[in-house]
Amino acid sequence: MRLALIATGGTIAGTGAQDSYTAATLGAESLLGAVQELRRLADWHIEQPFALDSRDIEPAHWLQLAACIQGQIDDPAIDGIVVTHGTDTLEETAFALHLLLPAGKPVVLTAAMRPATSLSSDGPLNLLQAACVALSPAARNQGVLVVANDAVIAAHDLVKQHTHAVDALQSRAGRGLAGSVLGESVSMRLCTQAARTALLQAADGALPKPESLPRVDILYAHAGAAPDLIDACVTAGAAGIVLALSGHGSIPASWRAAIAKALSQGVHIVRASRVAAGGVRPQTNEDDAATGCIAAGDRTAQQARVLLLLALHCKQAERLGELFATL
Ligand code: SIN
Repeated sequence: MRLALIATGGTIAGTGAQDSYTAATLGAESLLGAVQELRRLADWHIEQPFALDSRDIEPAHWLQLAACIQGQIDDPAIDGIVVTHGTDTLEETAFALHLLLPAGKPVVLTAAMRPATSLSSDGPLNLLQAACVALSPAARNQGVLVVANDAVIAAHDLVKQHTHAVDALQSRAGRGLAGSVLGESVSMRLCTQAARTALLQAADGALPKPESLPRVDILYAHAGAAPDLIDACVTAGAAGIVLALSGHGSIPASWRAAIAKALSQGVHIVRASRVAAGGVRPQTNEDDAATGCIAAGDRTAQQARVLLLLALHCKQAERLGELFATL
């Protein structure tokens, strides 16, 4: 069996103490060298498109990484792909890759909360278990998966729920795990699925290019939040705004005029919630058909931004309602 390891940085490649370290300092070869079982499980092809603390990952990096992974998907000698990444923005990268890549060959992301040199680092076991999942026939056709702390999490369900605990990466409340790993033994709970093409593609059917990405902002609603925040996003050139609203995506009365103005200027507005679980359903709590807003569905505000940004970049603005309702 042959796997590809694509390293992008993060704490899993970090050095220093647990409470004071630098992320993204070790290369892919060091990560592989730290876990001798990895060489027993598979032969490895290594790529390192960039080495970043994931706070610095931008939408163009999602597309660069997607192209790198696609290269490995297209290589018939590769059986599965493991990607190492920081935990901080893993939920955004994972969801972007889930939208952009075909579901066939396993693509498994992993990360760590403790740097490689700290006592009880979680990176080596997470990397080993990610490799086991990438080699598992049950991981085929499932879309992008994330492995951390014995859990297999579907990319579209992933949330980071703790700032420092080792089990920070979780499946969103009420969504359940895609599977689990005990040692090297993988147990998947998802049903068998057929392979599929990418959920989102450029008009020519290829991966979109990382140039000229639209600006999409997230605004976090809070008591007394000023409506001129919306005007500021529009003036700065936002093509879309995701509102992380209170409750079930409830729009404050003081924001309605600014939202209507932004919509009239062609800015796309998505209603998401700042609440941790449950999402925002269309025509619930607000008359979306009348306002022109799009409900985020069962997505976090940051996932809604990934979908809105990539859909606009793929020139699918007229399909936004359908995309948000189905993907
Ligand atoms: C990062 O996201 O790159 C740093 C933090 C982490 O990986 O946990």
